[in-house]
Amino acid sequence: MAHKITLLPGDGIGPEVATATVRILEATGVKFEWEKFEVGAEAFLKYKEYVPKDVYESIERNRVGLKGPVTTPIGGGFASINVSLRKKYELFANFRPIKNLPGIPTRYPGVDLIIVRENTEGEYVGIEHEVVPGVVESIKIITEKGSTRVSKFAFQYARDFKRKTIHAIHKANIMKMSDGLFLACARKVSKDYPEITYAENIIDATCMQLVMNPYQYDVLLMENLYGDIVSDLCAAFVGGLGLVPGANLGHECAIFEAVHGSAPDIAGKNVANPTALLQSGVLMLHHIKEHEAAEKVQNALEFVYRKKKDKLTRDIGGPASTNEFADAVIEALADPQSQAPYVEPTEKVAASS
Ligand code: NAI
Repeated sequence: MAHKITLLPGDGIGPEVATATVRILEATGVKFEWEKFEVGAEAFLKYKEYVPKDVYESIERNRVGLKGPVTTPIGGGFASINVSLRKKYELFANFRPIKNLPGIPTRYPGVDLIIVRENTEGEYVGIEHEVVPGVVESIKIITEKGSTRVSKFAFQYARDFKRKTIHAIHKANIMKMSDGLFLACARKVSKDYPEITYAENIIDATCMQLVMNPYQYDVLLMENLYGDIVSDLCAAFVGGLGLVPGANLGHECAIFEAVHGSAPDIAGKNVANPTALLQSGVLMLHHIKEHEAAEKVQNALEFVYRKKKDKLTRDIGGPASTNEFADAVIEALADPQSQAPYVEPTEKVAASS
């Protein structure tokens, strides 16, 4: 039976990386029935709605989505479609694994970090108003419910996948009540997971520590805004935004999307790297219990990075287009060599503290 998936290619580079990803996922032999929709500014031009109601119906029916990036206007205009979907479907845990791919030289080899970002609260509730001319108030909401459920997700993930340490990242020295509540919830949840070391770090110092030595962290748990910023910082450890996948997870639905945005600077040029969305697709394959196909795609992808340098996209120094890269991954899927076990030699850089 085909898996019914809601497909939101998005805009900017979204349609390019979504087309490449769908082609590769279909080449695994897994059967999909994609329910494809436009959202955002393009949808508004056609349907006078940023998220047409068919989209909601499809997500509610299928409970699994694959989504490309959607442009959000700066300093005005409509509210972020991404944030709205995450809030509407209570996709409270934004899961972002940061791991090197083989064959991409980076300053930090062997990084293996998990970011768990609270996805529905914080500053991203978007409650802002002008108090008097020249004074604007922006409200940050942190709740016990939101902080507890995302903490439970992080600790359960750590237990299930044998991760050792969780750092809750905060600014509770300044935001004593809001970040203080987030920390109190994380601390309370940590008591149910005695085998996992729990620690707390202030966000600004964490950014410095990450750049000094990312190996000192394992799972990073944080509220929405910090998670957004730290994700991009950590993407740089492994080769940039073209590579890092993500999943928005709730109790009822899951929407898989890359960390990156719509990249207007390279949109429409067939040069975007589809790896980030493809690896989000791999997370989706695991979610729908197509584990074998997930591993095949991951192996084929890594094979291309190791062996087919002329097929890599330009963000990581290659000459190939989005489509040529996708073709190479599809070719690798059919090549038994790509599925042979391979262990990347890793040598962590010596770093202080
Ligand atoms: P961005 O992530 O779109 O781009 C940052 C830089 O990374 C650019 O130089 C871009 O070319 C590069 N880049 C990103 N993805 C790449 C890929 N797959 N391959 C090669 N290079 C890639 O961030 P930016 O410019 O801040 O945001 C652009 C728009 O995207 C904004 O409207 C923003 O709101 C939106 N956005 C949407 C997200 C989503 O839909 N989930 C997430 C983040 C931003």
